[in-house]
Amino acid sequence: MSNEKWGSNIAFVLAMIGSAVGLGNIWRYPYVLYSNGGGAFYIPYLVAVLTLAIPFLILEYGVGYNYQSSFTKAIIKLKPKLEIYGWILPVVVFIMTVYYSTIMGWDGIYLVLSFFKGWGADPNTFLNVNLLQATDSLSGVFNFIPFIAIFMLVGWFIVWFISHKSLNEGLGRVCKIFVPLLFVVMFVIVIFSLTLPGALIGLTVLFNPNWSLLWHFDIWMAAFGQIFFSLSLGMGAGFTYASYTHDDIDIVSSGLKIIFANCAFENIAALGVFSILGYMSLQSGTPVSEIVSQGTTLIFVAYPQVFNILGTIGLVLGPLFFFTVYIAGITSMLSSFEVLSISIQNKFALSRDKATLMLCVVGGISSMVYATSAGGYLLGIADIFVNNVVVIFSVFIECILFAWIFKAERLIDFMNGRSKNFKLGRLWLLQVKYIIPILLIVIWFGGLYELIAMKTTESVMILIVLTLILIISSVIFTLLPAKSEDWFKTEERID
Ligand code: PHE
Repeated sequence: MSNEKWGSNIAFVLAMIGSAVGLGNIWRYPYVLYSNGGGAFYIPYLVAVLTLAIPFLILEYGVGYNYQSSFTKAIIKLKPKLEIYGWILPVVVFIMTVYYSTIMGWDGIYLVLSFFKGWGADPNTFLNVNLLQATDSLSGVFNFIPFIAIFMLVGWFIVWFISHKSLNEGLGRVCKIFVPLLFVVMFVIVIFSLTLPGALIGLTVLFNPNWSLLWHFDIWMAAFGQIFFSLSLGMGAGFTYASYTHDDIDIVSSGLKIIFANCAFENIAALGVFSILGYMSLQSGTPVSEIVSQGTTLIFVAYPQVFNILGTIGLVLGPLFFFTVYIAGITSMLSSFEVLSISIQNKFALSRDKATLMLCVVGGISSMVYATSAGGYLLGIADIFVNNVVVIFSVFIECILFAWIFKAERLIDFMNGRSKNFKLGRLWLLQVKYIIPILLIVIWFGGLYELIAMKTTESVMILIVLTLILIISSVIFTLLPAKSEDWFKTEERID
């Protein structure tokens, strides 16, 4: 039995944009752009889009299209001995989904608070002391915070509610309505922000290029890392969504639309963020450089401060903003959740209903470690583990498997037969077979270095625990006997 298909190709494009546009675009990107040379960052960013994102995305979607199955099932068809790898990626993406749900929980709380500015006059103390009761070590892990837990579980409930329905009634419908809405609301927020007095101050700071940084390895790493995370590349989400497409899909044009929408969204969001910071700088007399801060503080401290200054307008803008973050986050979380979910459905012949319920229960329970005082601290470590170490390495393996074992050449005629304006040729093969694997290895060593640099006994212990969770669950999934008769039978669509 093959998996369900999208109602239309547009549904696929919208769902994929929903996956790509997420916390990475709103929570992470403005800060990454600012701290990596401002305007100068656009050079490594564009290089990353051209050399990595476009060619790799076409490869990943193309192979997903071909197998029309879960990532794991495709790996078995490609190299039966590598089943364990076919589970490692979905499991690691699930670990990411679990910590993603934490930020969603925080955002849910702020969405409610924003209707009455419940964070009070000092949003910083409110966030760190009153709400998160944050500790920067493991010691806080026994201090459970029910309020945060409830909001995180609401997120899991929403994911279950949408995912357990059939593909088109659930995911497809939600993305069709909410993804366009996301763009409209973000647009309104940005236009308003640009009209604020002082907006130009923020934009000047943002775009004031620090060209000298171009010689630093870090800014290149940051650009490649950002593009990966932001486009949901290599994490099985694109693979899975592309596997649900119809035979007549034009992958190259759809892929380019998705990349364009995602990159446009994050850059437009950055304009909004910095205009608002400029306004705040003008009001408070503090330079923008002192206000701009990392994701969490930016969204949950700087923004509430601005909404406080804005008076009544803040009561409209605040809920709109936190609502946008919520929608962006949920549509991304749905896609990362889907990766392991469909693998389990395929192997154990489980209905969508059952698989999503089981995984949401497991996810919801495991996410509770983040509903403690040590939540923020643990989240930081899990994020580095997932993004810097495991994902990049498994994407490297994915690239080798798809480009060399599957043979990227097989995709060329198929892609070129549908794509009117863009044709794949030798350059694309050179990119997916040589350039990208080499780039990935370089990025991987860079990420590993960052990890070693932060080494404390405690963080090493947490990393070991995460590695064990990852390996043990992947081994269990591999060893459990398949219940589905066609687990070893996968039909290919491309000769
Ligand atoms: N692209 C999402 C974001 O920008 C994150 C994500 C990565 C979602 C991988 C699914 C899979 O927030």
